[in-house]
Amino acid sequence: MAIEPAVYGASERPPRGDYVRGGQVAPDYTCPQNYAAYTAADHETYSRLYQRQSALLPGLACDEFIAALPSLGSSSQIPRFDDINERLYKATGWEVVAVPGLIPEVPFFTLLANRKFPVTDWIRTPEEFDYIVEPDIFHDLFGHVPLLFNPVFADHMQAYGAGGLKAHSLSACEQLSRLYWYTIEFGLIRQANGLRAYGAGILSSSGELVHAVRSPEPQRIMLDLLRTMRTRYKIDSYQQTYFVIDSFHQLFDMTAPDFTPLYAALSAMQPLAADALLPEDKLALLN
Ligand code: PHE
Ligand code: FE
Repeated sequence: MAIEPAVYGASERPPRGDYVRGGQVAPDYTCPQNYAAYTAADHETYSRLYQRQSALLPGLACDEFIAALPSLGSSSQIPRFDDINERLYKATGWEVVAVPGLIPEVPFFTLLANRKFPVTDWIRTPEEFDYIVEPDIFHDLFGHVPLLFNPVFADHMQAYGAGGLKAHSLSACEQLSRLYWYTIEFGLIRQANGLRAYGAGILSSSGELVHAVRSPEPQRIMLDLLRTMRTRYKIDSYQQTYFVIDSFHQLFDMTAPDFTPLYAALSAMQPLAADALLPEDKLALLN
């Protein structure tokens, strides 16, 4: 089978990763973490990103994320996936697996449904310190992996993977990917001390973390499945709309029913713009 790299979003660029690696990439797109390839500058980039981002978390990131972050291991160099997996597998039965970059929908969903989280193994250049177009190891690891230590969130991610395979067979991946975007990537959660971020796209971005949780600019709307899956998103700017949940249990329970009727309803509806506001939207108040 030829390994086809995937690029999500409208992009003319070829994907950045090497999807061949001398035959080291398996048909499921996983590969060994190429640890020997990291330079001293790569470790330094990881360490600086980690320091900056972890200092920002109090008051902005959800409690579960802050509690689990130390489980990634030392911040002074790029972690070894095997090392993280010793702790992660014991905590929730999840593992991280290395991939060369973004992968197509079906292999992505299949890995998640098997409690394997694909992590890009290369890191951005120093010139891309503040912003990188496609996910690198810092986004994938720092942004996504801490919450995989949380049992409820971990179960949700597996259910999402299984749901993705179903959506694929129903040609509903676009609708489902909007839910992914507005929850797993850019979700906000209402906690005892106020609004906090749990989405990986927010938590791995120093600019968007402050914007998402504190700025008066964006809309913050209580999550409604149909509403969220109708809403387009922008991949190249801060979000104009965030959707808010009350707990990971709520997210898990809300997404547990069969989505088949939802997809049918959505196929008859026009999508909404990223900044749409409807009369029935319930707004979440800023802290
Ligand atoms: N319950 C959804 C379905 O039947 C799958 C799903 C689970 C989607 C969790 C998102 C998150 O299609
Ligand atoms: Fe991501």
